Amino acid sequence: MKVGRRETFNSAHRLYKEGWSDAKNLEVFGKCSNPNYHGHNYVMETWVEGPVNPDTGYVIDLKILKQIIRTEVTDKFDHRNLNLDIPEFEGINPTAENIAKVAWELMSKKIPAHLKLTIRLWETENNIVEYSGN
Ligand code: NI
Repeated sequence: MKVGRRETFNSAHRLYKEGWSDAKNLEVFGKCSNPNYHGHNYVMETWVEGPVNPDTGYVIDLKILKQIIRTEVTDKFDHRNLNLDIPEFEGINPTAENIAKVAWELMSKKIPAHLKLTIRLWETENNIVEYSGN
């Protein structure tokens, strides 16, 4: 059984590789390499898969999942510059892939080990990434 929760956060970022010229970064990352940053309204789905607990009828209490999402990810990332404000992105390009990976790593520590965690991150209405730990 899978249960999920949708949360949103707004963050600024810049995609670039240090050591590359602005021209090379523009070639690879396009407008996303704008040196003055740009923002996205991220939509993050957090999915938890596992057995239904016969005592509670839950896979995981969604109130608890909500708290984990907010404490570990959305309260930290919301209205922040991912490159500059979030230590987890030091030296890591904050692509949707890497944001999903960092969010998964922050939350997986708090999710009971018998449950499988999946993060699905919408960077735009059309671009989605999904990460389940590999
Ligand atoms: Ni972007």
